[in-house]
Amino acid sequence: MKQTSSGRQIREVRLKMSNSNNISNEVSHGVDSCHLSVDIAGVRLNNPVMTASGTFGSGMEFSEFVDLNRLGAVVTKGVANVPWPGNPTPRIAEVTGGMLNAIGLQNPGIDTFISRDLPFLDQYPDTRVIVNVCGHTTEEYLEVVERLADEKRPDLLEINISCPNVKEGGIAFGQNPKAVEAITRAVKEKARQPIIMKLSPNVTDITEMAKAAEAGGADAISLINTLTGMKFDIYRRQFAIANRTGGLSGPAIRPVAVRMVYQTAHAVSIPVIGMGGIQCAEDAIEFLMAGASAVAVGTANFHNPAVTLEIIDGIRAYMERFHFEHISQIRLDE
Ligand SMILES: Cc1cc2nc3c(=O)[nH]c(=O)nc-3n(C[C@H](O)[C@H](O)[C@H](O)COP(=O)(O)O)c2cc1C
Repeated sequence: MKQTSSGRQIREVRLKMSNSNNISNEVSHGVDSCHLSVDIAGVRLNNPVMTASGTFGSGMEFSEFVDLNRLGAVVTKGVANVPWPGNPTPRIAEVTGGMLNAIGLQNPGIDTFISRDLPFLDQYPDTRVIVNVCGHTTEEYLEVVERLADEKRPDLLEINISCPNVKEGGIAFGQNPKAVEAITRAVKEKARQPIIMKLSPNVTDITEMAKAAEAGGADAISLINTLTGMKFDIYRRQFAIANRTGGLSGPAIRPVAVRMVYQTAHAVSIPVIGMGGIQCAEDAIEFLMAGASAVAVGTANFHNPAVTLEIIDGIRAYMERFHFEHISQIRLDE
């Protein structure tokens, strides 16, 4: 991964764009007068910044560039009961303002995850570990949840009922409020850790799904997953992605995500974790203003592996500028 050239370019562009309102380049004075810690379902995170599932592996590849101990939480790639091969290639395509992906939740399965990834993450005691769980059926989700019940980590589970790139399961659970409530209840019954239900934006009314998850016993909600999109390669005269459709992520989806986070945060009383197109501290602060208790950074990790750390520093600088002592003061109560 070439962190340096692309990361530097982004910073240079930001420097050119900087003005007196921009906190991206402001250096925090390091005075510990502001508290970045947040509480998600009784689990304390040192700061509200986490990685978005599927964009950070289990942290191993990124640990060369990012001190994982500084993150609020690492959210892992989706884990299933058995290894999943994922979709045929090509599985990703660049589009204006983001990317399309149809990875199809390729993952090594829970056995390898427990023997390889959990011990790795255990080396970072300051950082919370959130395992993202996927499945084709309720039973498959439950198998993973039950296997994780005996482990010291994870600290929280994120249940992906919103993947648009698998034919069964995933989004099929996330587009019907009755199904959302049923799977939430089933998982909650078996889970030892608090559960975060990850919602799909590919619905008419996000608040219906959020309320259904809350009714089923969810401890928190995360959103948004990707928006279903399509792209053609007009010269090869074929679909850009073998799966034909893919999930759109990156800055293009941010206003949709901010709107959905705002609606959700005003519809439920459990914590909301906001994501979708966050690239810098200013973007993250928008989500916190909209009512998110924490934020996750996804696609931006691909072009700047250390972006999460810059976002933490930027949030601190913003709080110092506004004399906020606690992260919750960023929320706009309107
Ligand atoms: C390549 C890729 C893989 C992803 N894999 C998962 C996954 O395994 N589970 C999941 O819940 N979300 C997955 N997502 C969705 C992200 O976690 C996130 O919800 C979405 O990309 C929006 O955030 P972003 O615009 O910051 O990337 C994936 C996204 C991308 C781009």
